[in-house]
Amino acid sequence: MPLTAIIGALWGDEGKGKIVDATNEEADLIVKANGGGNAGTTYVINGKKVVLHLIPSGALRKKRSLMAQGMVMRPEQLCKELEEFNWDVNLGIDPRLQITLPYHLALDYAREKAADLKAKGNNKTEGGAIGTTLSGIGPTYEQQKSRAGIRFFELCSDEKKLEKKVRENYDYIKGIIANMGLEMVMPDRKIIDGKYVIEDMPLTAEQCVEAAVESGRKLKKYMADVSDEVYTALKEGKNVVIQGAQGTMLDIGFGNYPKVTSSEVRAPAVYTAVGIPAFPMKVIGIVKAYPTKVGSGPVVTCLDGGKWPVDENYSDPVAKLIRERGQERGATTGRARRVGWPDLVVLNYSHKLNGFTDLALTRLDIMHDIDPIKVCVGYWQDGKLTTKYNGWDLETLSRAKPCYVEIPGFGDISGVRNYESLPSGAKQFVELMETYTGVPVSIISVGPDREETIFRNFKAFE
Ligand code: GDP
Ligand code: IMO
Ligand code: MG
Repeated sequence: MPLTAIIGALWGDEGKGKIVDATNEEADLIVKANGGGNAGTTYVINGKKVVLHLIPSGALRKKRSLMAQGMVMRPEQLCKELEEFNWDVNLGIDPRLQITLPYHLALDYAREKAADLKAKGNNKTEGGAIGTTLSGIGPTYEQQKSRAGIRFFELCSDEKKLEKKVRENYDYIKGIIANMGLEMVMPDRKIIDGKYVIEDMPLTAEQCVEAAVESGRKLKKYMADVSDEVYTALKEGKNVVIQGAQGTMLDIGFGNYPKVTSSEVRAPAVYTAVGIPAFPMKVIGIVKAYPTKVGSGPVVTCLDGGKWPVDENYSDPVAKLIRERGQERGATTGRARRVGWPDLVVLNYSHKLNGFTDLALTRLDIMHDIDPIKVCVGYWQDGKLTTKYNGWDLETLSRAKPCYVEIPGFGDISGVRNYESLPSGAKQFVELMETYTGVPVSIISVGPDREETIFRNFKAFE
């Protein structure tokens, strides 16, 4: 059964886009399973950079690209992305998929504002806002569960019924926001003089109705029973790639709750998100050579003094170097990402939740000339050394101290295309990761471009 999933092993932005694109050559179908506008995926093809949030990576190779039920989708945003392709994308959208409308962004924004107001002091790691991408993700999934949500099917059906439901939801959400003592406004995110700022934009019910009706008309032609299409393709022996979004540590159930997103990110969740039985699946865990995190929550190996938002006065020089060199800013929000030393404790936790058959190690090139490289192999927690990761206990995690082994640094590896030619320090890093997790590192990425990839006996499909 040629089914392969690409799953973020850490806190997102691991380079899933680059790997899914590099492995897509033999794929027939590319399916996105979870998340929505919060995902920011960067592709670099022959030096040209493309950033997508919703459209699956298959569009870049003109392959059939599907958005599964488990995703949430902001229709105006999808229309904008499709315009960039002149609407020429072989796209299918599941009728059951939930729609994000502007009022979801308003509620996301209001909640973050209220949490920030409540938080004391500067260190938001243990309280305050999550630092969401303000894409309305939480409120959309929440309305799915409360059965008040609008599905893609309804977006593209009776316009009168759609308008009624949009107005009802607008009023309901306006009421919640008013109860918080706040206004019904949308976040307008901007980068001004290199600083991330958000401005309030008033939001009316009419704007929401217009957004829904207009985009429904434009997107209707893409409706497709994704669950059935993927099932049939697999039965016919076609190659299907599942393109995950976010990272396992942001999973709603098994990530660092509540500092998480609102969807299930893990590989086993793919089956329910797409709507297929548990066919055998190859699971490629994407792991960045160093972890990054946008938003608050504990990162034991953090080199930014645990501060969120990042305050470089508290950052270790290694964090500053990596952030600068790696341009570690969110593709969706432009916010600086926190940076840490590699953490095998987290990676192993992630592996046990996902069952990785392969690991793809990305951004190894960014680690050049950092000597030594510290790799976390255990945590000092309440006076004891442990390799267990209690992802649910954020307080204990925020007190935990990393136990490192050191490996020698290495020089520029961006031109290397085969494993044997890597310097010894880089190989030691790879082999330590393999020994610790028991999973082969079969892809090593040494640059953003499709071509800047080392494959080690890698097969995209079995
Ligand atoms: P995703 O959300 O997991 O798809 O990752 P993002 O696109 O948000 O962030 C990953 C960033 O790293 C993008 O800018 C990629 O172009 C870039 N990238 C991916 N792999 C590599 C690599 O091996 N080396 C370097 N230098 N950049 C990479
Ligand atoms: P990709 O697919 C990195 C983070 C946010 C915040 C938390 C909740 O590019 O890897 P949300 O907007 O989902 O309610 O935010 O999750 N987050 C991501 N961080 N990469 C992502 O996606 C993310 N999607 C959400 O920063 O901490
Ligand atoms: Mg990203």
